[in-house]
Amino acid sequence: MKGIFLAAGLAAALMGGANAQAGDAPYTVKDGSMVDAKTYEGWKTWRALACERCHGAQQQGMVGPSLIESLKVLTKEQFDKVLMEGRVEKGMPNFNGSKMVTENLDGLYAFLKGRSDGAIKPGRLQKLE
Ligand code: HEC
Repeated sequence: MKGIFLAAGLAAALMGGANAQAGDAPYTVKDGSMVDAKTYEGWKTWRALACERCHGAQQQGMVGPSLIESLKVLTKEQFDKVLMEGRVEKGMPNFNGSKMVTENLDGLYAFLKGRSDGAIKPGRLQKLE
C-alpha cells in the first residue's frame, strides 16, 4: 500500500513540474471530449473569459490569431507571458488581473495545446472521472 501512495505522489510531483518534455502532452483526453480535471478547468476559463470573442469559438482565429497555429510554435513560457502581460497595443488584453486565468494558466495551455494537436475536439468538454 505504502509503495502505491509513494508512486502516486511521485507521479503527481513530476506532473506538477509543468515543463513537460517535448512530446509529453500536458493534457489527458479520451474520445476527443473527455479531459482531465486541469484541462477541463482550462476550458472553463477559456469560456468564462470569452477568449473566443477574438480567437474564435474553435480557436481558428478572428481579430486575434488562430491559436491552433500559435500553439504549435509558442513555448509555455511565451504563452504565460502573453497571457499575463498581454500585447495591449496590438489588441491582446493582459489577464494578470483575472484570478481565474492566473490560477488556471496551465490548464488553459493544456486545453489549447490539445486543440492545436487535434486531440481535443471543439465544443463542450466533460471531465474524466
Ligand atoms: C479583445 C480581443 C482578444 C481577447 C478577448 C483575447 N485575445 Fe488573445 N490575442 C488578441 C490579439 C489581437 C492577439 C495578437 C497580438 C499580436 O499581434 O501580437 C492575441 C494574441 C494571443 C496569443 C499569442 C499568439 C501568438 O501567436 O503569439 C495567445 C496565446 C492568446 N492571444 C490567447 C488568448 C486567451 C487564452 C484569451 C482568453 C483568456 C485571449 N487571448 C483573449 C486578441 C484577444
